[in-house]
Amino acid sequence: MQSSQASRVTPLQRYPRWRNIPPHPSALWLSGQMAHRIHSSSVVQHGHVTRPEPGTGIKIHFEDSKGTPIRTVEANVGDDLLSIAHEYDIDLEGACEGSVACSTCHVILTPEYYDRLPEPDDEENDMLDMAFGLTDTSRLGCQVVLTKELDGMKVALPSATRNMFVDGKKSTH
Ligand code: FES
Repeated sequence: MQSSQASRVTPLQRYPRWRNIPPHPSALWLSGQMAHRIHSSSVVQHGHVTRPEPGTGIKIHFEDSKGTPIRTVEANVGDDLLSIAHEYDIDLEGACEGSVACSTCHVILTPEYYDRLPEPDDEENDMLDMAFGLTDTSRLGCQVVLTKELDGMKVALPSATRNMFVDGKKSTH
């Protein structure tokens, strides 16, 4: 008996002239938009954070929306908050993995530390506008890159996040 895998013919094998048909302009526009989204972000990958030696890293205090401590962790200069949260199993979602296409990595900082960060760019502001429980000191965790000046920073997770891909909000805490 012949396997169905062996007998499967792809559409391009069946209709080889399709190879010469240029893609529809809307497909090109969409792929350009996606490339822009992906490559304009400073953070595109996670899960590669190297933990510093205890006592030598930048301390970050994660809290829930009521100010209850979740965990204090140490990180390195150049790490972003979303990667750190994932490294230490802190419940910060990050649905688009840092491509600034969601607001599920929304975090709330204290004014003291918020003022030490560079201003959010237009893309980050656009996504923050859709964040559940937006505050004056809200940022996207994937866009907050650590410097020595942020040592001791408190990072509060909002009581819920909104993912525009799912059209609703998900309670996280
Ligand atoms: S993970 Fe989507 S914007 Fe940060």
